[in-house]
Amino acid sequence: MKAADLGRLATIPTRSTRRTSGLSVARASIEVVVSDIAQPLHSAPAIAPVPQRRRASTDLLRLLPYLGPYRGRWGVMLLTAFAGLGVTVAIPLMTKAVIDGPVRHQDQHGLWVLGSAALALGLLEAVLWFIRRWLGARATMGVEADIRKELYARLQVLPMSFHRQWQSGQLLSRVMNDLGTIRQFLGFGLLFLVLNTIQIIVVTGILLAMYWPLGVVVLASVLPVTVTIFRFERQFSRLSRLAQDQSGHVATHVEESALGLRVIKSFGREDYVYQRFDERATALYDAEVGKVAVSARFWTLLEVIPNLTLILVLGFGAYAVGHGLVTMGTLVAFITMMLSLVWPIASLGFLLSMMQESMTAADRVAEIFDAPVDITDGPVTTVPRGGHLELRDVGFRFPDAAPDDWALRHVSVTVEPGQTLALVGATGSGKSVLAALFSRLYDVTEGAILLDGRDIRELSLAALRTAVATAFEDPTLFSMSVVENLTLGRGADNPATDDEVRAAVDIAAAQFVYDLPFGLNTRIGEQGMSLSGGQRQRLSLARAILAAPSLLVLDDTLSALDMHTEAEVTVALRRVLTSVTGIVVAHRASTVLLADRVALLQDGTITRIGTHAELLEKAPEYRYLLSADDELDDGCERSCDWEQDTERERLEQLYLEQTDESEEVRRR
Ligand SMILES: Nc1ncnc2c1ncn2[C@@H]1O[C@H](COP(=O)(O)OP(=O)(O)OP(=O)(O)O)[C@@H](O)[C@H]1O
Ligand SMILES: [Mg+2]
Repeated sequence: MKAADLGRLATIPTRSTRRTSGLSVARASIEVVVSDIAQPLHSAPAIAPVPQRRRASTDLLRLLPYLGPYRGRWGVMLLTAFAGLGVTVAIPLMTKAVIDGPVRHQDQHGLWVLGSAALALGLLEAVLWFIRRWLGARATMGVEADIRKELYARLQVLPMSFHRQWQSGQLLSRVMNDLGTIRQFLGFGLLFLVLNTIQIIVVTGILLAMYWPLGVVVLASVLPVTVTIFRFERQFSRLSRLAQDQSGHVATHVEESALGLRVIKSFGREDYVYQRFDERATALYDAEVGKVAVSARFWTLLEVIPNLTLILVLGFGAYAVGHGLVTMGTLVAFITMMLSLVWPIASLGFLLSMMQESMTAADRVAEIFDAPVDITDGPVTTVPRGGHLELRDVGFRFPDAAPDDWALRHVSVTVEPGQTLALVGATGSGKSVLAALFSRLYDVTEGAILLDGRDIRELSLAALRTAVATAFEDPTLFSMSVVENLTLGRGADNPATDDEVRAAVDIAAAQFVYDLPFGLNTRIGEQGMSLSGGQRQRLSLARAILAAPSLLVLDDTLSALDMHTEAEVTVALRRVLTSVTGIVVAHRASTVLLADRVALLQDGTITRIGTHAELLEKAPEYRYLLSADDELDDGCERSCDWEQDTERERLEQLYLEQTDESEEVRRR
């Protein structure tokens, strides 16, 4: 902690000097400067930048830097592959030597020598093949794992506006299927595409040199192969993109229906959901079958062309031997070599489809890497600990909204350190959108939000998000233990102590966690599904409190609690809110009681600011919003009793009694 920061902190008048709480102890232990432990997340991915001229293969080529760390293995792999290719070509030449030499001259000894050499070559080819596979597996799987990690890191860094537009299944299929496709091509397809092409060129050259008229016949067959390849490429790339997108839709559907299973079952709409899934799955099936139809035609041509050429070569070859134009050994070698070309040419079919698929996959992966990260770190890494909040003419419009479709406009308000502001407004008035701006889940479209006098965009995201903690309307939990969920807001450099966890649990009245089978170490089901709505809400509240922020944002966090639990939480929260600056989104008067002032939000604009009593008195629309609330009718608000110590003491007494009771129960 820098001395200057300490000095600045010391001069900030917070109400924490009047009351102490577990939270203020927690805050004092926090380092003011955030060491950016999330550095790997923000470092630039290895994917190459987009070149000026784009081609179909561009995005695949951009992934080549990922091969860098494995270049040693790739080098050895290539060498063994070329050596293997040499052996493949040498074996027919050896056959020629055997036939035209020892066989023709009936040389037993020579036959043994050359035969053993041919056998050794065969063995060598097998060993080289093994080495290549062994080296290749780790290199290609390493590449896949590296891209996957960087892709996931990218997904974490990408802003909410990106995630709002992308279906989760599309992301899932890119992170899993597309990378698998790219790995298969890099590990197997690319190598064989290169080797087979070289083999075709080298062997055709040798054939031309051996006996050029037959060589020309072979060369002529390459022409229809090339034409077929170009036609195929165009059709297949369109179908491959379609199929890969369809597979993303299917994944989205499965994920969505798994998460929403409760709703589907409760309405008895399994049939309807199945019907929709069936349509998606059929569309995927059609796209895949379309791909197979195109590639089957293509593969057939590639099988037929070399075989037809072989028949021609056999006919011409027999004629040439008959007329003494070539030796028998040359013809046998020629045909053996030609046979060795059948596989490389025929395999071009699936190798090229593999290449197309991985080019499409690379396109889809690059789309994520290329998505703009428009919420970026500012230069200041000092955590603002003062808690002075100012909104200066804040306006916000969703990125894809019409120019005059403002979610928030002209929002100006100042909250002093240690003070709490309640946001009250009709549903859809923009409370949650405003709550999301404080931690920069979205950036303001106009105006500015200032923490301790500094625009929050000047802060590093780590510093800002250490200073601001939000308990969201929808209390999302993760499939981790209770304590891991609770301490999510605390970095590894500032772990929460047991006392802090206990204090946060008590404040949020979440003592139920101690009764779970393994207490704080109980693993919570996916999305917190094993807990009730109110339990999830209390854990989410405890998580925000435990983050020990300077600005605590509570978006309607007490809505799912029964009256007694709410009263208990309210009393405890009131004490927390003396030591931090608070923004409390409220629908009920009981929650509004937590705040020093209330801002009335209407259609994205603050129309009134004042104390609860003032607004009740002067703002009919405010009265209307809270009118269904019982507390309004008991007269205490109108006479501002809630602001007086008697009411506060009553609530605190209630809290203490309940705390004592729960202590008693626990002890027993
Ligand atoms: N992701 C989004 N994209 C586009 N518009 C959105 C998005 N989220 C919210 N909105 C719109 O912004 C407006 C404000 O929404 P917001 O969630 O802030 O309402 P709220 O005041 O929190 O309501 P509630 O009391 O029901 O929680 C609404 O009209 C809503 O339709
Ligand atoms: Mg809301």
